[in-house]
Amino acid sequence: MKTLSATRRLTRALLREPLDRPPVWLMRQAGRYLPEYRAVREQAGGFLEMIRRPEHAAEVTLQPVRRFGLDAAILFSDILIPLEAMGMELVFDEHGPSLPRPVRTRADIERLRVPLPGESMGYVGEALRFVRRDLPDSTSLLGFCGAPLTLASYAIEGGTGKSFAELRKLMYHHEADFRALMEKLARTTALHLAYQVEQGADAVVLFDTWASALGREDYVRYALPYSRQALEGLPTGVPRVVFAGASDHLLDDLSTLPAEALAIDHRTSLDRAFRRYGARPPPQGTLDPAALLATPEEVHRRVTALLAEVAGRPGHVLGLGHGVMKETDPACVAAFVAAAREYRP
Ligand code: CP3
Repeated sequence: MKTLSATRRLTRALLREPLDRPPVWLMRQAGRYLPEYRAVREQAGGFLEMIRRPEHAAEVTLQPVRRFGLDAAILFSDILIPLEAMGMELVFDEHGPSLPRPVRTRADIERLRVPLPGESMGYVGEALRFVRRDLPDSTSLLGFCGAPLTLASYAIEGGTGKSFAELRKLMYHHEADFRALMEKLARTTALHLAYQVEQGADAVVLFDTWASALGREDYVRYALPYSRQALEGLPTGVPRVVFAGASDHLLDDLSTLPAEALAIDHRTSLDRAFRRYGARPPPQGTLDPAALLATPEEVHRRVTALLAEVAGRPGHVLGLGHGVMKETDPACVAAFVAAAREYRP
């Protein structure tokens, strides 16, 4: 069984210890806004190549930690990697991800494997070990997975969904097939999260980006049980963070998941979320990533205002409502981190 490092600020926050300042990390903290990332990407020959080469994946994971002194590193990988290990073809180009042969029928779903991560995604474990070796002891290492619903949306739509019509067709008209797919995705996700913990992740994030596509009734009926299944299998003591973008309407339900934190997006007021859900998994976040396109001074001001709103409530972790945009000036990320470091409740 894993023991938690009591010295890691992020872990302590997730255990709801009162802290002198909140921990800080950002979704997509490694990415195209950093010149050193673009250099590795160029050398590796592409995004997936970078993920599959542990030395490259480890290097870009560490870059933002070195540059900004963040409290957590998040493994450089992608939520769609397990779909490839399940047997789907995965392509990334300038338009983003696509899966040229989406799953639409019972036979497509039956063909999908539930992969053993150590066998089919061993490069993920190796990258985690490389990162842990070079990471300051006080810095947490986050593993992650896509939630079953979000993965299903990519698998069924063949890319980033717009209306999610194919997903809905399968869900409403072939419910048993849809559930068979969700079941496989939940098992794949649970195994992938457990593997990352085994290989050195201190905490995990479950990204349910497209939870926002469903209304409350459908989310509870068709998606929530599978996210629960994905999170339940982890060893005790490993903090779990659930991220659901633009899902204010689902917070009552999401807060019933077995998790230590609920990463909300910037459309929800943190103060309101703390009042309402603070006793269950506390909310975390959450500045609008677009605010990082303002000046460093303005970013600093906004972060300070946000932290004043949270007022040092235990459990709070500072972050963004979505990923760092590629147009972001690294000086604005530096200002974001500095404002957190300078803040005293
Ligand atoms: O946060 C981190 O720094 C860790 C790495 C990470 C990436 N993707 C790297 C990435 C994480 C945690 C993800 C998760 C992910 N991937 C999600 C869930 C979170 C979210 O964004 O809502 C989703 C939906 C994906 C699928 C995905 N990957 C899309 C839709 C895209 C294209 C959009 C874009 O920003 O280009 C990606 C590409 C991607 N994943 C990039 C990075 C750094 C950009 C890749 C590049 O071209 O170099």
